[in-house]
Amino acid sequence: MLWLLKLSIIAQWVQSVRIVNMRVPEAIQYGTRDKVTLDCEYNTRNVTGLVVKWFYNDRSQQVYQWIPPQKPQALGLLKHKLDLNFKVSNDPYTQQRALRIVQPVPELTGNYTCVVSTFLAEDERTRPMTIFVPEKKFELVVDRLNNVLLDIICVVKGVYPMPELAIFIANRPQEANSSIKLEEGRYTAVTSVVVRVEAFPPTAETLCCVHVPLANYHNCTRKIFYRDEPPKPLVHPKSAHTQSVPDRGNRLVHSSYLFLLIIVHLSRIVVT
Ligand SMILES: *[C@@H]1O[C@H](CO)[C@@H](O)[C@H](O)[C@H]1NC(C)=O
Ligand SMILES: *[C@@H]1O[C@H](CO)[C@@H](O)[C@H](O)[C@H]1NC(C)=O
Ligand SMILES: *[C@@H]1O[C@H](CO)[C@@H](O)[C@H](O)[C@H]1NC(C)=O
Ligand SMILES: *[C@@H]1O[C@H](CO)[C@@H](O)[C@H](O)[C@H]1NC(C)=O
Repeated sequence: MLWLLKLSIIAQWVQSVRIVNMRVPEAIQYGTRDKVTLDCEYNTRNVTGLVVKWFYNDRSQQVYQWIPPQKPQALGLLKHKLDLNFKVSNDPYTQQRALRIVQPVPELTGNYTCVVSTFLAEDERTRPMTIFVPEKKFELVVDRLNNVLLDIICVVKGVYPMPELAIFIANRPQEANSSIKLEEGRYTAVTSVVVRVEAFPPTAETLCCVHVPLANYHNCTRKIFYRDEPPKPLVHPKSAHTQSVPDRGNRLVHSSYLFLLIIVHLSRIVVT
Protein backbone atom coordinates (compact mmCIF):
# COMPACT_ATOMS: atom_id res chain seq x y z
CA MET A 1 0.00 0.00 0.00
CA LEU A 2 2.77 2.38 0.96
CA TRP A 3 4.50 2.07 -2.40
CA LEU A 4 1.24 3.04 -4.07
CA LEU A 5 1.01 6.18 -1.96
CA LYS A 6 4.64 7.04 -2.73
CA LEU A 7 4.01 6.48 -6.41
CA SER A 8 0.95 8.73 -6.41
CA ILE A 9 2.89 11.48 -4.58
CA ILE A 10 5.65 11.27 -7.18
CA ALA A 11 3.06 11.26 -9.95
CA GLN A 12 1.40 14.39 -8.48
CA TRP A 13 4.76 16.09 -8.25
CA VAL A 14 5.48 15.31 -11.88
CA GLN A 15 2.06 16.54 -13.01
CA SER A 16 1.65 19.31 -10.52
CA VAL A 17 0.59 22.86 -11.00
CA ARG A 18 1.08 24.90 -7.88
CA ILE A 19 0.14 28.48 -6.94
CA VAL A 20 3.22 29.71 -5.09
CA ASN A 21 2.23 33.30 -4.40
CA MET A 22 -0.98 35.29 -4.55
CA ARG A 23 -0.75 39.06 -4.25
CA VAL A 24 -3.99 40.94 -3.71
CA PRO A 25 -4.11 44.34 -1.97
CA GLU A 26 -6.11 43.82 1.20
CA ALA A 27 -7.54 47.32 1.61
CA ILE A 28 -7.31 50.40 -0.61
CA GLN A 29 -8.94 53.75 -0.04
CA TYR A 30 -11.27 54.58 -2.92
CA GLY A 31 -9.83 57.24 -5.21
CA THR A 32 -6.19 56.83 -4.17
CA ARG A 33 -5.21 54.38 -6.95
CA ASP A 34 -6.16 54.41 -10.62
CA LYS A 35 -4.93 50.87 -11.25
CA VAL A 36 -4.60 47.80 -9.09
CA THR A 37 -3.01 44.41 -9.79
CA LEU A 38 -4.19 41.08 -8.43
CA ASP A 39 -1.51 38.51 -9.14
CA CYS A 40 -1.46 34.75 -8.96
CA GLU A 41 2.02 33.29 -9.41
CA TYR A 42 2.23 29.58 -10.24
CA ASN A 43 4.63 26.84 -11.25
CA THR A 44 3.71 24.06 -13.59
CA ARG A 45 5.71 21.13 -14.96
CA ASN A 46 3.45 20.57 -17.94
CA VAL A 47 1.57 23.37 -19.68
CA THR A 48 -0.67 21.12 -21.79
CA GLY A 49 -4.22 22.43 -21.39
CA LEU A 50 -3.19 25.40 -19.22
CA VAL A 51 -6.12 27.64 -18.24
CA VAL A 52 -6.08 30.55 -15.78
CA LYS A 53 -9.44 31.60 -14.37
CA TRP A 54 -10.44 34.21 -11.80
CA PHE A 55 -13.70 34.19 -9.85
CA TYR A 56 -15.40 36.85 -7.74
CA ASN A 57 -16.95 35.67 -4.42
CA ASP A 58 -18.00 32.25 -5.71
CA ARG A 59 -17.58 29.82 -8.58
CA SER A 60 -20.73 31.05 -10.30
CA GLN A 61 -19.18 34.45 -11.01
CA GLN A 62 -16.27 34.07 -13.37
CA VAL A 63 -14.53 37.37 -14.10
CA TYR A 64 -11.47 36.36 -16.16
CA GLN A 65 -10.17 33.62 -18.40
CA TRP A 66 -6.84 33.15 -20.14
CA ILE A 67 -5.93 30.17 -22.31
CA PRO A 68 -2.43 30.82 -23.65
CA PRO A 69 -1.57 31.67 -26.35
CA GLN A 70 -5.00 33.26 -26.91
CA LYS A 71 -5.98 36.72 -25.72
CA PRO A 72 -7.47 36.86 -22.22
CA GLN A 73 -11.14 37.73 -21.65
CA ALA A 74 -12.79 39.87 -18.99
CA LEU A 75 -16.19 38.56 -17.92
CA GLY A 76 -19.15 39.48 -15.72
CA LEU A 77 -18.34 42.04 -13.04
CA LEU A 78 -14.95 42.87 -14.56
CA LYS A 79 -16.11 43.27 -18.14
CA HIS A 80 -14.75 46.63 -19.44
CA LYS A 81 -12.88 47.10 -16.15
CA LEU A 82 -9.57 45.43 -17.04
CA ASP A 83 -6.46 46.35 -18.96
CA LEU A 84 -6.26 43.22 -21.13
CA ASN A 85 -2.86 44.14 -22.57
CA PHE A 86 -1.17 44.08 -19.17
CA LYS A 87 1.70 41.60 -18.85
CA VAL A 88 3.16 40.61 -15.52
CA SER A 89 6.15 38.69 -16.98
CA ASN A 90 7.79 37.73 -20.30
CA ASP A 91 7.00 34.03 -20.01
CA PRO A 92 4.32 33.10 -22.59
CA TYR A 93 2.75 30.67 -20.10
CA THR A 94 2.43 33.11 -17.18
CA GLN A 95 2.49 36.65 -18.61
CA GLN A 96 -1.27 37.31 -18.51
CA ARG A 97 -2.17 35.48 -15.31
CA ALA A 98 -2.82 38.74 -13.37
CA LEU A 99 -5.88 40.96 -13.18
CA ARG A 100 -5.15 44.61 -13.91
CA ILE A 101 -8.19 46.55 -12.70
CA VAL A 102 -8.57 50.09 -14.03
CA GLN A 103 -10.28 52.65 -11.74
CA PRO A 104 -11.15 50.24 -8.90
CA VAL A 105 -14.51 51.10 -7.32
CA PRO A 106 -15.93 50.11 -3.89
CA GLU A 107 -18.39 47.69 -5.55
CA LEU A 108 -15.44 45.46 -6.46
CA THR A 109 -14.89 44.66 -2.77
CA GLY A 110 -14.99 40.90 -2.30
CA ASN A 111 -13.12 37.61 -2.36
CA TYR A 112 -11.09 36.82 -5.46
CA THR A 113 -10.23 33.23 -6.38
CA CYS A 114 -7.54 32.30 -8.87
CA VAL A 115 -7.78 28.82 -10.41
CA VAL A 116 -4.91 27.42 -12.49
CA SER A 117 -5.47 24.14 -14.25
CA THR A 118 -3.83 21.85 -16.80
CA PHE A 119 -5.05 18.52 -18.19
CA LEU A 120 -3.41 16.81 -15.26
CA ALA A 121 -3.80 19.03 -12.24
CA GLU A 122 -5.41 22.09 -10.69
CA ASP A 123 -4.70 24.51 -7.88
CA GLU A 124 -6.59 27.48 -6.46
CA ARG A 125 -6.31 30.23 -3.89
CA THR A 126 -8.61 32.93 -2.55
CA ARG A 127 -7.85 36.37 -1.10
CA PRO A 128 -10.12 39.25 -0.09
CA MET A 129 -9.85 42.79 -1.43
CA THR A 130 -11.60 45.83 0.01
CA ILE A 131 -11.94 49.22 -1.70
CA PHE A 132 -13.18 51.36 1.18
CA VAL A 133 -14.70 54.80 1.48
CA PRO A 134 -14.09 56.73 4.72
CA GLU A 135 -16.98 58.64 6.27
CA LYS A 136 -18.30 61.89 4.77
CA LYS A 137 -19.93 62.97 8.00
CA PHE A 138 -19.24 61.96 11.59
CA GLU A 139 -21.18 63.56 14.42
CA LEU A 140 -21.50 63.08 18.14
CA VAL A 141 -24.32 64.89 19.92
CA VAL A 142 -24.60 64.99 23.71
CA ASP A 143 -28.03 66.22 24.69
CA ARG A 144 -29.19 66.80 28.28
CA LEU A 145 -32.79 65.57 28.39
CA ASN A 146 -33.29 66.78 31.95
CA ASN A 147 -31.39 66.88 35.25
CA VAL A 148 -31.16 63.12 35.36
CA LEU A 149 -30.82 61.83 31.81
CA LEU A 150 -28.37 62.38 29.04
CA ASP A 151 -29.01 61.39 25.41
CA ILE A 152 -25.92 60.54 23.38
CA ILE A 153 -26.29 60.11 19.62
CA CYS A 154 -23.59 59.26 17.13
CA VAL A 155 -24.05 59.32 13.34
CA VAL A 156 -21.68 58.27 10.61
CA LYS A 157 -22.52 58.75 6.91
CA GLY A 158 -21.14 57.79 3.51
CA VAL A 159 -19.03 54.77 4.54
CA TYR A 160 -18.27 51.55 2.63
CA PRO A 161 -18.14 48.64 3.41
CA MET A 162 -20.22 48.09 6.55
CA PRO A 163 -19.10 50.11 9.59
CA GLU A 164 -19.57 49.46 13.31
CA LEU A 165 -20.14 52.23 15.85
CA ALA A 166 -19.33 52.22 19.55
CA ILE A 167 -19.92 54.80 22.28
CA PHE A 168 -17.67 55.10 25.33
CA ILE A 169 -18.18 57.33 28.34
CA ALA A 170 -15.21 57.76 30.67
CA ASN A 171 -13.64 54.77 28.86
CA ARG A 172 -16.63 52.53 29.56
CA PRO A 173 -18.30 50.98 26.48
CA GLN A 174 -22.05 51.65 26.42
CA GLU A 175 -24.81 49.24 25.54
CA ALA A 176 -26.38 51.27 22.71
CA ASN A 177 -29.26 51.04 20.22
CA SER A 178 -28.03 50.94 16.64
CA SER A 179 -29.42 51.07 13.15
CA ILE A 180 -27.74 50.87 9.79
CA LYS A 181 -28.86 51.39 6.21
CA LEU A 182 -27.34 51.14 2.76
CA GLU A 183 -28.22 53.93 0.34
CA GLU A 184 -26.69 54.34 -3.10
CA GLY A 185 -23.85 52.04 -2.15
CA ARG A 186 -22.86 53.85 1.08
CA TYR A 187 -23.72 53.09 4.69
CA THR A 188 -25.29 55.39 7.26
CA ALA A 189 -25.11 54.15 10.84
CA VAL A 190 -26.74 55.65 13.93
CA THR A 191 -26.18 54.57 17.48
CA SER A 192 -27.65 56.13 20.61
CA VAL A 193 -27.81 55.62 24.32
CA VAL A 194 -29.64 57.28 27.20
CA VAL A 195 -27.62 57.34 30.42
CA ARG A 196 -28.08 58.62 33.94
CA VAL A 197 -25.97 61.69 34.52
CA GLU A 198 -24.95 60.70 38.04
CA ALA A 199 -23.35 57.45 36.84
CA PHE A 200 -20.35 59.41 35.62
CA PRO A 201 -17.54 61.45 37.12
CA PRO A 202 -17.89 65.27 37.19
CA THR A 203 -15.97 65.58 33.95
CA ALA A 204 -16.01 62.71 31.50
CA GLU A 205 -14.95 62.18 27.93
CA THR A 206 -17.66 60.95 25.58
CA LEU A 207 -16.20 59.07 22.64
CA CYS A 208 -17.78 57.67 19.51
CA CYS A 209 -15.67 55.37 17.34
CA VAL A 210 -16.30 54.04 13.86
CA HIS A 211 -14.65 50.82 12.75
CA VAL A 212 -14.75 49.28 9.28
CA PRO A 213 -13.58 45.70 9.94
CA LEU A 214 -12.87 44.75 6.32
CA ALA A 215 -10.68 47.82 5.83
CA ASN A 216 -9.13 47.82 9.31
CA TYR A 217 -10.17 51.48 9.46
CA HIS A 218 -10.75 53.29 12.77
CA ASN A 219 -11.71 56.85 13.62
CA CYS A 220 -13.06 58.47 16.78
CA THR A 221 -14.69 61.75 17.66
CA ARG A 222 -14.95 63.09 21.22
CA LYS A 223 -16.79 65.53 23.43
CA ILE A 224 -16.21 66.50 27.03
CA PHE A 225 -19.25 66.13 29.23
CA TYR A 226 -19.67 68.03 32.51
CA ARG A 227 -21.92 66.34 35.03
CA ASP A 228 -22.61 69.65 36.74
CA GLU A 229 -23.33 71.74 33.71
CA PRO A 230 -21.14 74.85 33.87
CA PRO A 231 -23.15 78.09 34.06
CA LYS A 232 -23.99 79.27 30.56
CA PRO A 233 -21.69 82.13 29.66
CA LEU A 234 -23.66 85.34 30.05
CA VAL A 235 -21.32 87.26 27.80
CA HIS A 236 -22.19 87.36 24.13
CA PRO A 237 -20.36 84.58 22.24
CA LYS A 238 -18.93 87.20 19.87
CA SER A 239 -16.85 88.62 22.69
CA ALA A 240 -15.31 85.18 23.28
CA HIS A 241 -11.93 86.59 22.30
CA THR A 242 -11.92 88.55 25.56
CA GLN A 243 -10.93 85.23 27.11
CA SER A 244 -7.38 86.46 26.58
CA VAL A 245 -8.04 88.60 29.68
CA PRO A 246 -9.59 85.79 31.72
CA ASP A 247 -9.60 87.56 35.09
CA ARG A 248 -11.92 90.34 34.10
CA GLY A 249 -14.21 88.16 31.97
CA ASN A 250 -14.58 85.55 34.68
CA ARG A 251 -15.34 88.09 37.36
CA LEU A 252 -17.98 89.62 35.11
CA VAL A 253 -19.64 86.23 34.51
CA HIS A 254 -19.34 85.44 38.20
CA SER A 255 -20.92 88.61 39.45
CA SER A 256 -23.83 88.41 36.99
CA TYR A 257 -24.40 84.80 38.02
CA LEU A 258 -24.37 85.84 41.69
CA PHE A 259 -26.81 88.62 40.89
CA LEU A 260 -29.15 86.12 39.23
CA LEU A 261 -28.98 83.83 42.25
CA ILE A 262 -29.90 86.69 44.57
CA ILE A 263 -32.91 87.56 42.40
CA VAL A 264 -34.07 83.95 42.34
CA HIS A 265 -33.65 83.80 46.12
CA LEU A 266 -35.52 87.06 46.69
CA SER A 267 -38.42 86.00 44.46
CA ARG A 268 -38.77 82.79 46.47
CA ILE A 269 -38.98 84.79 49.69
CA VAL A 270 -41.64 87.02 48.16
CA VAL A 271 -43.70 83.97 47.06
CA THR A 272 -43.68 82.23 50.45
C1 LIG B 1 2.16 16.83 -20.67
O1 LIG B 1 0.90 16.17 -20.49
C2 LIG B 1 0.33 15.70 -21.72
C3 LIG B 1 -1.04 15.13 -21.41
O2 LIG B 1 -0.99 14.20 -20.36
C4 LIG B 1 1.26 14.65 -22.34
O3 LIG B 1 0.73 14.19 -23.56
C5 LIG B 1 2.63 15.30 -22.60
O4 LIG B 1 3.54 14.33 -23.08
C6 LIG B 1 3.18 15.94 -21.31
N1 LIG B 1 4.36 16.68 -21.63
C7 LIG B 1 5.48 16.64 -20.91
C8 LIG B 1 6.60 17.50 -21.36
O5 LIG B 1 5.58 15.93 -19.92
C1 LIG C 1 -14.59 36.84 2.07
O1 LIG C 1 -15.26 35.69 2.52
C2 LIG C 1 -15.34 35.59 3.94
C3 LIG C 1 -15.93 34.24 4.28
O2 LIG C 1 -17.07 33.99 3.53
C4 LIG C 1 -16.18 36.75 4.45
O3 LIG C 1 -16.30 36.68 5.85
C5 LIG C 1 -15.52 38.05 4.06
O4 LIG C 1 -16.32 39.12 4.45
C6 LIG C 1 -15.28 38.10 2.55
N1 LIG C 1 -14.44 39.26 2.26
C7 LIG C 1 -14.87 40.29 1.53
C8 LIG C 1 -13.87 41.37 1.30
O5 LIG C 1 -15.99 40.34 1.05
C1 LIG D 1 -33.09 51.21 23.18
O1 LIG D 1 -34.37 51.56 22.71
C2 LIG D 1 -35.44 51.07 23.48
C3 LIG D 1 -36.74 51.42 22.80
O2 LIG D 1 -36.71 52.70 22.22
C4 LIG D 1 -35.35 51.68 24.91
O3 LIG D 1 -36.37 51.18 25.71
C5 LIG D 1 -34.00 51.31 25.51
O4 LIG D 1 -33.84 51.93 26.77
C6 LIG D 1 -32.86 51.75 24.60
N1 LIG D 1 -31.60 51.25 25.12
C7 LIG D 1 -30.58 52.05 25.41
C8 LIG D 1 -29.36 51.37 25.90
O5 LIG D 1 -30.63 53.27 25.28
C1 LIG E 1 -11.84 61.36 11.71
O1 LIG E 1 -12.95 62.11 12.17
C2 LIG E 1 -12.71 63.49 12.31
C3 LIG E 1 -13.97 64.11 12.86
O2 LIG E 1 -14.16 63.72 14.16
C4 LIG E 1 -12.34 64.10 10.97
O3 LIG E 1 -12.02 65.46 11.14
C5 LIG E 1 -11.15 63.35 10.40
O4 LIG E 1 -10.89 63.82 9.10
C6 LIG E 1 -11.42 61.87 10.35
N1 LIG E 1 -10.23 61.17 9.96
C7 LIG E 1 -10.11 60.54 8.80
C8 LIG E 1 -8.86 59.81 8.58
O5 LIG E 1 -11.02 60.54 7.98
